Amino acid sequence: MSSISVRQPDFSFQEDLALMPDPDDALYSAFSCSVTILAPHIERFLIRVMRQCSKELDSASLRDSLVAFCGQEASHLKNHDKLNDILRQKLSKTGRQRLLNAEAQLRSDYDRFFKEKDTLFNLAYAEGFESATCAMSLWAFEHQTLQHSQKPWREIIEWHLAEEIEHRCVAYNVYKAMGGSYTHRLIWGSYAQWHLYRYLHRFGSIFLSEFPERKQHRHVLKQHGLSLAKKLMATLTPSYTPGKVDMPEGLDKILLRY
Ligand SMILES: [Fe+2]
Ligand SMILES: [Fe+2]
Repeated sequence: MSSISVRQPDFSFQEDLALMPDPDDALYSAFSCSVTILAPHIERFLIRVMRQCSKELDSASLRDSLVAFCGQEASHLKNHDKLNDILRQKLSKTGRQRLLNAEAQLRSDYDRFFKEKDTLFNLAYAEGFESATCAMSLWAFEHQTLQHSQKPWREIIEWHLAEEIEHRCVAYNVYKAMGGSYTHRLIWGSYAQWHLYRYLHRFGSIFLSEFPERKQHRHVLKQHGLSLAKKLMATLTPSYTPGKVDMPEGLDKILLRY
C-alpha cells in the first residue's frame, strides 16, 4: 500500500469569485490563473502516460504509488476544471476565445505526444513537469507566496501544491524504472519545462490583459524570482533526487486539513 493518500476535497466556486487571487499583485495573479488553466491538461496527459506503463513495472510498491499518483492528479483536475469554468466565463468574449484557442493547441500537443512519441519521451516530459511543480511548491511555501491570495484561491492552490510535494518521487521513480537516463532526462525534461513555460506565458498574458487597472503594491514573482529560478535549475542537475529535498514546515498540517 502506498504512503500517498488520495484525498477528495470538493471545492465549490461561486460566480462572484475574484478573477485576481491577489488584487495587489497582477503578475502573481496572472501566474496563478495560468497555472490553474494548465493543470487539468497536463494532469490528463500524466494519467494516460503513467497508466500506460503500469503493467511494465516490476515493483509492486511503485505500481501502488503510481495508482495513488493518478488518484491525486484526477482529484486535482476535477477541482481545477470547476474553477476554470468560472474563470473562462469571467473573461471578455475575445479573451475567452484566445484562451480556448491556446488550450486547444495544448490539448493537441498532448494528443500528438501520446500517439507519436515513445514512452520514455512521455515519461521524461512527465518528470520534467513534476520536478518543476515540486520546485514551485517548495518555493511557494518557503516564501509564503499565497499569504495574500483570497479564498478559495488560496485553499485549492495550497492543497494542490502540498500534494505535488507528497507525490514528487513517483514520476521520477517510474522514469528510472523504465530505463530513463540522466542525459535523456536533461534534454527532454528541459524541453518539457520550456514547453510548459511557453503556455504559462500565453495563458498568463491573456489574464493580465483582462485584469482591471489598479496600482500594484506587491510583486511576489520579482521579489522571489531568483529563488524560484535556482530551485528550477536544481531539478536539471545530475544530483537531483526528489526524495532528498527538504520538506517545508507545516506541510503535514496542510495535508491533514483535506
Ligand atoms: Fe496535480
Ligand atoms: Fe503532480
